[in-house]
Amino acid sequence: PFVLAAARTQRKDPLDGLRYYTGGWNISSEHYWASVGFSAAPVFAAAGVWFAVFGAALFLAGCCYCCCPSRSTSYSRAALVVSLLLLLAFTAAAAIGCAILYDGQGRFHGSTAATVDYVVKQSGDTVDNLRAFSGFLEAAKAAGVGPVSLPDDLKGRIDGVVRRVSSASDELAARTASNSAKIRDALDTIRKILIVLAAGMLILAFAGLVFSACGLESLVYVLVFLGWILVAATFVMCGTFLLLHK
Ligand SMILES: *[C@@H]1O[C@H](CO)[C@@H](O)[C@H](O)[C@H]1NC(C)=O
Repeated sequence: PFVLAAARTQRKDPLDGLRYYTGGWNISSEHYWASVGFSAAPVFAAAGVWFAVFGAALFLAGCCYCCCPSRSTSYSRAALVVSLLLLLAFTAAAAIGCAILYDGQGRFHGSTAATVDYVVKQSGDTVDNLRAFSGFLEAAKAAGVGPVSLPDDLKGRIDGVVRRVSSASDELAARTASNSAKIRDALDTIRKILIVLAAGMLILAFAGLVFSACGLESLVYVLVFLGWILVAATFVMCGTFLLLHK
């Protein structure tokens, strides 16, 4: 075995006492996955911190709301205008974010699909080369000058080599087909999730704008709750993206 891209896969490995991982690209190795996952750990940690801190804040706000019912307050005109402007600005920011997410998922899907296609093509070329090589060996076995041909034991050894090369190329072709199907399935799933996420966030942002403008207080609270979960989910997706990207 030889080590692939050893310099580009040097990352700390939490399963090995944070020593640097030196095994190169090897998706069969749990140390490879642990070291890649560890490089996305800060984002997953941010997801956890957000979930806990904002959840605690929501809980406290809910307690305050229930225990001491709010006295009716009246807002000044300036406060209302500032609220409306902030609402419009945040809705616009959310819409731009959704557009960027949609564009980004298209490019992410394009580049990963191109990488998979490249690897599949290389593997197909290797299979073709191996099959051509068995053909040459078969032809060489039959070679001879006049009545003189290769001795039988040599022919038997050539047959053995041809069998081994054929079974290797068949296994390579079969494994390439099954692995690339699995990878394409996973990529398509990620793509669908991202598109649904982008559309969902856009709908929620506009719903929030409309509900707040109409003063539908309880619906706005439901949206705040959904937003809490969605932001945590976005952090998790971001970590997953980093992991896949690396
Ligand atoms: C990849 O990892 C597996 C499992 O740890 C190991 O058996 C295999 O030898 C590794 N391959 C290479 C090329 O290092």
